[in-house]
Amino acid sequence: MINNDIESILVSREELDKITQDIADRISEDYRGKRLLLLCILKGSVVFMGDLMKKISIPVEIDFMKVSSYGRSTTSSGTPTILLDLHRSDISDIDILIVEDIIDSGHTLSYLTTYLKNKGAKSVRIATVLDKPDRRDPSINLTPDYCGRVIPDEFVVGYGLDYDEKYRALPYIGVLSPKVYQNKN
Ligand code: IMP
Ligand code: MG
Repeated sequence: MINNDIESILVSREELDKITQDIADRISEDYRGKRLLLLCILKGSVVFMGDLMKKISIPVEIDFMKVSSYGRSTTSSGTPTILLDLHRSDISDIDILIVEDIIDSGHTLSYLTTYLKNKGAKSVRIATVLDKPDRRDPSINLTPDYCGRVIPDEFVVGYGLDYDEKYRALPYIGVLSPKVYQNKN
C-alpha cells in the first residue's frame, strides 16, 4: 500500500535489495585484506548501513558520525557542524568508507572527506544510495565511489530519508507529494 503522502515509488524494496547487494559485492572485492571501517552518517543512513553490513562478506568495523544539515532549500556557504565525532585515536591503518543516504549539494561529504583525511585515515571513500548530481554546488567536485541510483532533483523520503523527521521507516524510496511541504515553506 502506498502512503497517502507519497506521490510515487522511485526505488522499490526489491530494487533496494539488489542495489545494496551489488554495492556490498563490490566492496567485499575491493577491500579484501584491508581494515575496513563503515562510517554511518546519522540519521539518514542507518537503514542502508544495516543492509550493507549484513551483505558484505569480509570483516568490517562500524562507527557513526552525525553532521548538521542545512535543510533542503538552503545552499550552504558555511561549514557543516560535527554533532557526533569519530572517537578513535589512531586511524592511520584504517580504510574508511563513508555510508551516506543521499548526496545533494555535496557540502556535507566534501567537508567530511577532508576532515577524515586530515585526521589521518589511510583512505576515505563514499558509498551512497542516491545521488542528485543536478543539485551539486558548482564549486564542489565530488563523485561517489559507490552509488545505488542517480536521481533527478526531487525530494524523496523513505529507507532512512526523512522530511521533518517523518517517513524514515518506509521500506522503499518514494517521491514526497509537494502538498506535504507546500503550505509549510
Ligand atoms: P548535502 O549534499 O550536503 O547538500 O546534504 C545532503 C543531505 O541533505 C542528506 O544527507 C540528507 O540528509 C539531506 N537531503 C538531501 N536531499 C534530500 C531528499 O531528497 N530527501 C531527504 N533528505 C535529503
Ligand atoms: Mg544524511
